[in-house]
Amino acid sequence: KKNPSLNELIRQMTLDEKIAQLVQLAVPFYEGAEGDGLITGPMASLGITEETVHNSGSVLGMAGAAETINVQRTHLENNRLGIPLLMMADIVHGFKTIFPVPLAIGCSWDPELAEKSAEIAAKEASVSGVHVTYAPMVDLVRDPRWGRVVESTGEDPYLNSVFARAFVRGFQGTDLANDTDRVAACVKHFAAYGAAEAGRDYNTVDLSERQMHEFYLPAYKAALDEGCEMVMTAFNTVDGVPATGNSKLMRKLLREEWGFDGILISDWGAVKELIAHGIAADEKEAALKAIKAGVDIEMMTSCYVKNLSELIENKEVNESLIDEAVMRILTLKQKLGLFENPYRAADPEREREIVFCDEHRTSARELAVKSCVLLKNEGVLPLNGNSDRKIALIGPFARSGDVLGPWSWTGSKEDAIKLDDGMRKKLSGSSELLVADGCGIETTTMEQWQEALASAQSADTIVLALGEHSDMSGEAGCRADIRLPEVQLELIRKIKSLGKPVVVVLFNGRPLDLHGVYDEADAILEAWYPGSEAGDAVADLLFGDANPSGRLTMSFPYSVGQVPVYYNAYNTGRPQGAPDAQVRYVSQYLDIPNEPFLPFGFGLSYSSFEYEGAKLSSDVITMEESIKVSVTITNKGNLAGEETVQLYVRDITGEVVRPVKELKDFRKVALQPGESREIEFTLDEKQLRYYHSDLSHDSDAGAFVAFVGPNSKTNAELPFKLVK
Ligand code: IFM
Repeated sequence: KKNPSLNELIRQMTLDEKIAQLVQLAVPFYEGAEGDGLITGPMASLGITEETVHNSGSVLGMAGAAETINVQRTHLENNRLGIPLLMMADIVHGFKTIFPVPLAIGCSWDPELAEKSAEIAAKEASVSGVHVTYAPMVDLVRDPRWGRVVESTGEDPYLNSVFARAFVRGFQGTDLANDTDRVAACVKHFAAYGAAEAGRDYNTVDLSERQMHEFYLPAYKAALDEGCEMVMTAFNTVDGVPATGNSKLMRKLLREEWGFDGILISDWGAVKELIAHGIAADEKEAALKAIKAGVDIEMMTSCYVKNLSELIENKEVNESLIDEAVMRILTLKQKLGLFENPYRAADPEREREIVFCDEHRTSARELAVKSCVLLKNEGVLPLNGNSDRKIALIGPFARSGDVLGPWSWTGSKEDAIKLDDGMRKKLSGSSELLVADGCGIETTTMEQWQEALASAQSADTIVLALGEHSDMSGEAGCRADIRLPEVQLELIRKIKSLGKPVVVVLFNGRPLDLHGVYDEADAILEAWYPGSEAGDAVADLLFGDANPSGRLTMSFPYSVGQVPVYYNAYNTGRPQGAPDAQVRYVSQYLDIPNEPFLPFGFGLSYSSFEYEGAKLSSDVITMEESIKVSVTITNKGNLAGEETVQLYVRDITGEVVRPVKELKDFRKVALQPGESREIEFTLDEKQLRYYHSDLSHDSDAGAFVAFVGPNSKTNAELPFKLVK
């Protein structure tokens, strides 16, 4: 069919048909579907008619070429005007080839590989019939109790923005209309979902407008500047008004100020949740507030379908709002070419060829290797696989396929490379791998203990594969205690008492409180959820076929009592450690340090990197003239390795208080043993701008300090001035 004129099409649509375009339903509503698809929210009865389903605009959580083709075909037969469905799904960090979770991808500090991962995810998803992915999730996160930190790239607005752009480029490419190997991206969750109080999902967010602009909004904006087609609302309140009914946030900021003209979709059930929040008395008022705020698609509740026509009749809503929303939805359908080919790239044969192919898996392994962070190494790593010795691999993740992460519903745990398989491939001669579970994630049995102790007793080195079940993070996966479950801490204690070298590999979706792990282990590798190629990637690192290069993008707290803890904090009027600080009257805890246990930017390598000669080309920046910040890095180790050189700035005196450090740039540098390289950054006036109390984005003349180093604790100060 040829592309219709959308204005003409809208003219032909009845009001009910238009309103039905605004509803998004899960898979079980559709004829031709094989199963339930992905259910990511409460499945309450919606009380909608078959006709509404036939006229609905989009489906959520369906994938698979044969099934999507089937559903689309049936839909077109049932839809009077032949308007195709948009197929949307959460393709967050891979489709069948699962890449590391986004928090891990962040730790790679490698936007190019991140882009590649999204490109591959898009290709696999598209051939399987998906048109839109609900990604990237770019919520800034500071509270590891919140389960969804696993979906974010971390606590820094600049780094999150870099990754937001990379993911959007990867998903959408540069020519979405013609490149059917790409899918449209939907940035989420607008806005500030990551700031849920006490780290409890769906909880209240209350931030100053300036905080929002300074920390929370930049990554969404970056995704939109990169051309992201859609935005999803957040579940939380923003300044007292739930995002999904928040006109100031959506209509004014997103649409009017930022000029976003794409589709705004609610999160699952979020329109109706305006009632529970307490800003709507009933579904009618919820519909009224959401449509006025600018929400085009209502996901999985039926407030629009049941109430918009009456609201229009009563003149409480102008029909033009519906027409605008429908126009946005049809425009995306047209852009994706669905009127000409409603099946787009869905193709069962090509799906078999492309999905989970070797080339994609190689990329997943590469990114997994780069995403793991070496947290400690007292000389035990790398292991030697040719030394005719015995290694005991013990723990609930020793042979587990639960290494994909909580948002990898299309991936297969069975197909994931397990750690024991990856490690076995590295052994030669009479080296041996003894494998035992020791315990489950939260429970154990006497037999499991005994088997583990027997293996450990006869081994020379012990690798403990520990962590959280993937359901312990992700949506609604919050924890108040972020230590490893007690049974695993007990396992560490028992194994440690044997007095042998102990390496801990962690599989988890959040920064943990490492009490009971850090002091007991001789080495710790934070593997997060590395994805389909987990076992091979982790084994590459454990045996030194790859050198760890990941750096944390979210602070590891000393204990949960410190949370939220993040590097780019304000100084306070009584900072600890100031020249006139006293024992008592300063901003500090009596029982733990102020600093996180492991800071943003931190990560070890099997090499050591020396920083020398950090300098500025001038100590004055002007409106026209930038300066260069340079430093020489030398690999002092015996292995080739990669260092992530980080540039931070502190604005000493501002109109409002400024963070003690802000990441401004970074560079990854690969160095052979003994090799040196000079790294040079450019710093200009634009990078010194920030949000003032009137929300103007500007810089202040005056004193600044630059820091260049391996992580956010770096404190070699390079002072300079901004002259305006
Ligand atoms: O995309 C998700 C969102 O992140 C959380 N609620 C459900 C949506 C659709 O699955």
